[in-house]
Amino acid sequence: IGRELVHFADIDSTNNYAKKIGNDGCPHGTVVTAERQTLGRGRVGRLWQSDNSRGLWFSIVLRPDLEPEKVQIITLAASVAVVEGIIEVLDINCGIKWPNDIILGSCKLGGILTELSAEPGHVNYVVVGIGLNINQDSGDFDQELQDKAASLKLFTGKTHSRAKILSGILKSFEKIYTMLLAGETRQIIDKWNKYSVTVGKEVRIISREVEYIGTAQSVALDGKLVVKCKDGTLREVSSGEVQVRGL
Ligand code: BTN
Repeated sequence: IGRELVHFADIDSTNNYAKKIGNDGCPHGTVVTAERQTLGRGRVGRLWQSDNSRGLWFSIVLRPDLEPEKVQIITLAASVAVVEGIIEVLDINCGIKWPNDIILGSCKLGGILTELSAEPGHVNYVVVGIGLNINQDSGDFDQELQDKAASLKLFTGKTHSRAKILSGILKSFEKIYTMLLAGETRQIIDKWNKYSVTVGKEVRIISREVEYIGTAQSVALDGKLVVKCKDGTLREVSSGEVQVRGL
C-alpha cells in the first residue's frame, strides 16, 4: 500500500480522483494525497474543511477480494490503522467514535469516508478517504468547527511532520489489511472495541423513524453498533440510517 503515490497541490477531492483512477484500473494500494482540497467531502453529504496544507488529506484505492456486504469491515480497519499509526509515530492515544470518527480529547481529529464500486457479488474497488487534522491552530478552523475540531498541534503545542504520520498510518494500514485478508475479522473488531470511546456509553440513536436511548455494547462483526435499550432489548444499528450522540 502506497507503493504508487499521486500527489496534488490542489484538487477538488482526493476521493474523487481515487475513484477516477479506480475506474481506469489503477493498481491496488494506490494512494492519492493533496496539500489542499477545494471540495473535501465528509460523511452524509457534509463538507470537510481541507482548504489548507496543515492536515493530511489522502485516499487509498483497494481491490479486496470480498463480497460487497463485507466491505464495512475495511472502514473499521482503517480507523484502527489511523489510531495505531498515531500511537506508533507520536505515542498519542486517540479514540474511535462510531462509526469512524477519530477523537482526541473530546474533539474530532479526523474522519474516514469509504466509497465503494461494486456489482452484485463483486467489488471493483474501495476508496478509503482519510482526513486528519495535524498542524492547524484554532483560527484555521471555520467558526462552526472551533469547539468541535482537534489538531495534533493544538493537543501537543508542537508542529508535526505530516509525511512521518502518513507513512506510519500506511504501515499500520498494511498490517491490518493483511489481517483482514487472513480472515482475522474478530481480532480487528476486538482492536476497534478497545479503542472505541462509544462502547459502554449512553447513546441517543436518531434516525428518520425513531429516536431512542440506550447503552452502546460493542460493534458486531458486520460493523453494526449493538445498543442495549432501556427495556433490555438489543438493537443493531448501521451507520447509514442513524446518528449517534453521546449524552
Ligand atoms: C467524515 O465526515 O468524518 C469523513 C471525512 C473524510 C475526509 C477525507 S479528506 C481525504 C478524502 N477526500 C475527501 O473528499 N474526503 C476524504
